[in-house]
Amino acid sequence: MAAPFRLLFVCLGNICRSPAAEGVMRSLIEAKGFADRISIRSAGTGGWHAGKLPDQRMRTAAQNRGYDLSSRARQVTENDLSDYDLVLVMDRQNLRDLKSFDRASQFDSKIRLFCDFCTDHQETEVPDPYYGGEQGFELVLDLLEDGCRGVLAHIRSALA
Ligand code: 4NP
Repeated sequence: MAAPFRLLFVCLGNICRSPAAEGVMRSLIEAKGFADRISIRSAGTGGWHAGKLPDQRMRTAAQNRGYDLSSRARQVTENDLSDYDLVLVMDRQNLRDLKSFDRASQFDSKIRLFCDFCTDHQETEVPDPYYGGEQGFELVLDLLEDGCRGVLAHIRSALA
């Protein structure tokens, strides 16, 4: 069988948005029978939380929708841009930070804003929920559930 498609989600801390994206996407590909064809990880542009489980507020909100978040945070590296087929970032600051690794712009087309794949929401970024209330975590999950369906459709056509 061909090598799996490699998908990386990136946010700032890798303890809220991107591990939740990883959990939502993993659940979706398992439900749709793509678990052996798509490999998913997440990382943060910052390294302060490296080694930690996702934020408890994010884990609880995700658990309430049936997602188990158990990844450990790590900081993104320059090699990620060559190692992954698609790198989806949560906001424009993440996009700027990742593009600063890619001075020759050779990986431009594989670094994309996650919300480009949303169809039911108008937001263009997944807002950072870290300093806000519970509603922020619910909005993150709403956006992720919407966009992950679009991401799967995109990858399916890339694999076809
Ligand atoms: P994330 O949220 O980027 O979605 O993981 C954040 C987590 C931690 C911090 C900021 C955002 N922080 O400043 O520690």
